[in-house]
Formats: sequence, C-alpha cells, structure tokens
Amino acid sequence: MNNLRSVLSVLLLLCLLPITFNSAQTRTQWQNSPDIERRVEALLKQMSLEEKVGQLNQYSYGMPTGPSTGRSAVEEAIKRGEVGSFLNVTDPALSNKLQHIAMEQSRLKIPIIFGLDVIHGYRTTFPVPLGLASTWDANLVERVSRIAAQEATASGIRWTFSPMVDIARDPRWGRIVEGAGEDPYLGSIMARAYVRGYQGETLGGSQSMAACAKHYVAYGAAEGGRDYNSVDMSERQLREVYLTPFRAAVNAGVATLMSSFNTINGVPGSANDFTLNQVLRREWNFRGFVVSDWGAVGELIPHGVANDLASATRKGFLAGVDMDMESNAYFKHLANAVKTREVPQSAVDEAVRRILRVKFALGLFDKPYVDEKNAIATLPSANVAAAREAAEKSFVLLKNEAILPIRSGVRTVALIGPLADSRADMLGAWSAQGKADDVITLRAALEARSKRDGFKLVYAKGTEIRGTSDSGFAEATAAASQADVVLLALGEDSSWMTGEAGSRAFIDLPGNQQQLLERVAATGKPTALVLFSGRPLALTQVSSKVQAIVEAWAPGVQAGPALERVLFGDASPSGRLTVTFPRSLGQVPIFHSMLNTGRPAVGLDLTRPPTNGNEKFKSRYVDEQNVPLYPFGFGLTYTSFEYSATQSSAQQTSVVELNAGRGQVRVTADVKNTGSRVGEEVVQLYIGLRGTSVARPVRELKGFQRLSLQPGESRRVEFTIGRDELAIWQSGTTYKVEPAELTIWIAPNAESGTPTKIMLK
Ligand code: BGC
Repeated sequence: MNNLRSVLSVLLLLCLLPITFNSAQTRTQWQNSPDIERRVEALLKQMSLEEKVGQLNQYSYGMPTGPSTGRSAVEEAIKRGEVGSFLNVTDPALSNKLQHIAMEQSRLKIPIIFGLDVIHGYRTTFPVPLGLASTWDANLVERVSRIAAQEATASGIRWTFSPMVDIARDPRWGRIVEGAGEDPYLGSIMARAYVRGYQGETLGGSQSMAACAKHYVAYGAAEGGRDYNSVDMSERQLREVYLTPFRAAVNAGVATLMSSFNTINGVPGSANDFTLNQVLRREWNFRGFVVSDWGAVGELIPHGVANDLASATRKGFLAGVDMDMESNAYFKHLANAVKTREVPQSAVDEAVRRILRVKFALGLFDKPYVDEKNAIATLPSANVAAAREAAEKSFVLLKNEAILPIRSGVRTVALIGPLADSRADMLGAWSAQGKADDVITLRAALEARSKRDGFKLVYAKGTEIRGTSDSGFAEATAAASQADVVLLALGEDSSWMTGEAGSRAFIDLPGNQQQLLERVAATGKPTALVLFSGRPLALTQVSSKVQAIVEAWAPGVQAGPALERVLFGDASPSGRLTVTFPRSLGQVPIFHSMLNTGRPAVGLDLTRPPTNGNEKFKSRYVDEQNVPLYPFGFGLTYTSFEYSATQSSAQQTSVVELNAGRGQVRVTADVKNTGSRVGEEVVQLYIGLRGTSVARPVRELKGFQRLSLQPGESRRVEFTIGRDELAIWQSGTTYKVEPAELTIWIAPNAESGTPTKIMLK
C-alpha cells in the first residue's frame, strides 16, 4: 500500500514538473537508476578479482594517439576478461569482431566500450573547438556534437574523449586549439553544450556516446605553454577558473572525465587525491568514471612520485583514476596490490561499479554490436550544411579598412599563400575520420565562384607553410600586381604546430610567410589576410601591412565555401574572440580577467584601459603597451552597432538576500544596428567587484546573447545578476556574495561599454 502510494505520488509529481526539468532529468538519470544499480551489483558479485581489474584496462588498437606501451594478443586477453575498453578502433567490422569475442567467449560477457577522440566531428569535420567557441553559439555547438555522435556511433564508437574544457591563456600551448579559450564562464557554457550534444537526451539512445571532460585538471596552465609541463596554482584559481567548466560538465551529466598529465602543485593530475577523490567525488558527487590520459599512470614514474609501475598503479588508482589508458599498469599490478592489501578490494569494486554503470547506461549489454551497414560512407548533405554554417559563424573579422566584403563586379582576384589550397590543414588537429579529400579549399571555392561571377582568379602558392625559400615570391607579387584585390591565405600547419605536442616558442607567422606578406603588401594592392591558426598569433607586424584580417582557425570540410561566402558578403562574419590576441609574445600570459595590481597601468576605470604612458613605477613594460592587439570578445562585422549606457534595476541590493538566492538585479542596454546591412552581434555582460576580501579580476564575463539586427533596428538586451554571478570562493566548498561595489557593463567586447554601479550591502 505504501509502495502504491509512493508510486502514485511520484507519477503526480512527474506530471506537475515542467518539460525542461524532465529533459534535464533524463540527461542525468543514468547516474541514479535503480535498475542499472541492481544490474551492476548482480554482475559485480559474479566477478573474480582478475575480471574486475580487466574492466579497468584500456588499450589502443589501431592508429596510436600516443607513445605505444600497449599489448599484443588482444583477442586472447578479451577472452580472459582482461580488456574493459579499446580506443582507436574505427572500423565497425573490427569493433564487432572484438565485441563478439567479449560477448561470446569471455566468461561474464561484459561488453567492451570503444572510445575515440571525436573532437570536432567524426567524418564530417567541423571547425576546431577554438573556432566553434568563437561562434558564441551554444545551440550550434550542441548540434555539431550531436552530428558527431550520430556519425561516430554508426561506427560503433560510444565514447568520445571530448570536450576538452581546459581553460587556456597561453597561446604558445598547442592545445589551446582544442578548447573554448580563456574564460571560465564561456568555457562552462560550451562544456555543457558538448555534453548535451554527445550524450543526447539519454545516454541509452543508440546515437548517444558518453562524453569525457578532459584533461582534469589545469592542463591548460602548463608553465611556459610547453605541453605536459608543470602547473602550480592557488586553490582559488583552481576552483574559480580551471575547475569551473569541469563542474559545468558534471552538472550536465557527463559520464566520464580524463585525468591530466601535468602536476598540480606537485601532484600529478593522474595521482591527485584532492582533485579526484575530494573535489570530483565527494564535493560534486560524480558517479561516472575517470580514465587516465594516455600512459599517464606510467608517467608517474618520470614525474618522480612513483619508483616503479607497481607503485604508480597504487598511487594512480588510490587517487581515483578508475581506468588505465595504455600504461599496462593496472593489468600488471593491481590484482597483486589487492592481494597484499595495499589497495582495498572495496576500492576496486567501486571503480568497476563506475565503469559498469556507464556501460549499462549506454545500453551496451543489451545492444553490444553496431550495424555495419549504417557506417558513414559519404558525407550526409545536412551535415555538410551544418559544417558550412559552423565555419561561417566561427570566422572573426579582426580588421577591415573597407575592403571586405569584396564588391561584386571585381575583375581580378589574386589568391596567394600556402594555406589557400591545403586540404589537410583545413581539418585541424584531431580530425577523427575526417578525410582531406572531403575538404573544399578556399582556392577550389573561389575557382567555382570566379566562373559563376565572371572574375579572373590568379593563384600563387608563394611559399611553404614553414618554408625558407623565396623562390615563389616573384610569382606571388606578379599575381598581386594584376589584381584588384589580394587574398593572402597564411598561417600554421595544423598537424605539426597545433594540438597535442604542438607548442610554439614563437607565435608569429611561421617560416618566411611574413616576408611574403610584406612583398605582396608592397605592391600596394588592397590586401586581406585570411589567417588559419590554432592559436592567437602576435599580429602587430601583420596588421600594419594589410587592410583586412579574417581569423579563420581550421574551418573543417567546408572551409572554402564558408570563407568565400563571408569574403563576398553572402554571409557576414559574426565570430568573436574567446582568447586575447597579444601585441607581442612578451605580454603572454595576457587575458581579459587579470587582477588590477596595486600599481595598475590601466587606471581604475575598468572598462577603458588607456595606453601606458611613460609613468615610472607602474605595472607595465617599458617597451610594450599593456593592452592587447585584439581583446577578448572582439570581432567586427559588415555593419556597426551602438550600445547605450548600461542601466540597472536598483542602485543597491542586499548581500543577505543575494546569498539566500534572491535579490537579483536586472541590467539592460539598448543595442542598435547603425549600419546598412543586417548583422549579428554578440552582446556581452561583464562585472567587476571592489571592496571584497580578496582582489577580484578587473572584469569577469557573466553572460552573453547573440542577436541578429536589421539595419536601423534597436533591441533592449536584459541580463539578470544574482548569487551565481557574484559569489566568491571562501574555503572548502563555501562560496559567498560579499559586500562590495559592483560595476556592471554590457558591451561588444572586453574593452568597451558604459558601466553602471550597484552597492552590495
Ligand atoms: C591526449 C588525450 C587523448 C588521448 C587518447 C592523449 O595523448 O592527451 O587528449 O584523448 O591521447 O588519444
């Protein structure tokens, strides 16, 4: 009777709940499903210690994505129940073959989970994540990730090692291209969008794959921007900046996390009891599992926190790394560590539980195989259209002296540079099953357009990406000389200079591309640079020589058509920077939410940093300004927008109310399209706090909205600010709003806007 009553009350409650709540529930319900828990416990009871440890091993099978330490004779290993997961199996027939062995020849028939780095598309390659973030369009990112999941699951991949939610503030770091940039608020919005896209409405959907938020944690703060390097940072910075997007991913129901290579205050991310057991498990109640990064358990030895693989096993495992990717450490040493009581059996059971929970939630036990007929053979046209849309929205117009869009009726266009026709470089780092053959380059797209529009296209490569020879310069300048407008396609090669192990000590144009640019510019022809890069470059010497700059990142399969449409004005550029572009390398690290210092060169007006002047004893360089070349949030388009001053609903509000989750303040501004073309604007909300117990960033991003406005159209934009936006980390798990003077401004980028002030009393 009691049971019946509780069932009825649950049903009643469900009917009363709004749809959105139901959707959020289904997205996270895998974590607390009684049915799944029952099945996990039943299976766990039947498992031997060796079979349990088997679930904790992951091996690469196929193209390695790290230094291989893997094992051979995998088929026998599967039969013995020694393999919990494979990564890098992309052939559905092979995945079925391996799965059949697990499901038919292993004692307990536990399915294998196949993982892959599906980072920005599977077969249909979208812009690299830094480009996707530049769209400031979470719905688009969710859609793109959904498409990636549909394509990848059709090949048997039910787990992606994405999103990378590492905050990155150092453009030297090659992996800055894999994330959403420098800001924890934007990073959190993007983290959630990826998780929702990959995992779908429910993890059990046949087109859903488990997401993996990586690299936990602070990997993006590698000293000097050198990959895999150490990280030393305060707990405040860790919690308020670097952990923030991971928390957003966990709240969105992410099924897995990947522990990082780097040390955090001396303790490697893959042996870090504080970040893994304390923060992730105890504070955030994360119920999925943690996989190490490639070989990261074994790397505890060179880090110096383990003497041998046996102690690396103990340290990694006890710190909370459930699955060992490619170190072969758990396989060799974990069972013995349990037998010698160095590792409690209960800890192994718990790790196995976490992994089985995700496998059950994915429905792998009930539907372990992939239908080989469904694998993607050609690019679906709807996905190609999405790739073009994403690319168009990812481009950031950094400079434009009235030469873009290229006017119709242009007679000769010169296209010059090593990136104009390089298909592979358009795919970007980590392109999964992306194929260079699927890419339409800028050259190909312009050729097609030149035929349609009847202009002449002259192409010259000019030099190689990392070239040193100037033998192609003469042809390039000859092409430029005969043109009405020159398009320079320059930048980085995406596989060597961006992504993992792609750190650079110089962040200017590689090889002799700067010389090529200068030679072309010297012809005096109006020149637009289309820049392909996986990071902010120091463009001071570039921007003084060309009339326009379009940052195109690595745009994916539709690079050419998307660029051609934006360059000719069929579409308007609408991306905005999610990383600060420095004036020079010496300014690095430079990001919008820095502290003010006691001797700020920027003065106390938080929104308008002036040039440094010549004052002594200021926090500045004697030979460089403090301000960046292009600030966070910046991007031009083909129209212009005007912002009114920011207005607030109150001049003061109560801290007690705010801390109780009430007392929100509303702020508004009017944004007007003052140009003659329709345009998209990314309206940004910044705050600054003064009078608090600790120094706060000069500005923090706390909201944004993307608007499309017709010429002359004006729209009132409104944001609400409350506890979530204002609370400051105190200690442990405590966050509080403090009495302070709050400055708020609604602005087109981090360096403009007219603020309003509110006292928090
Ligand atoms: C990278 C990870 C990646 C893993 C598997 C590692 O080298 O750091 O980001 O997911 O390899 O390919």
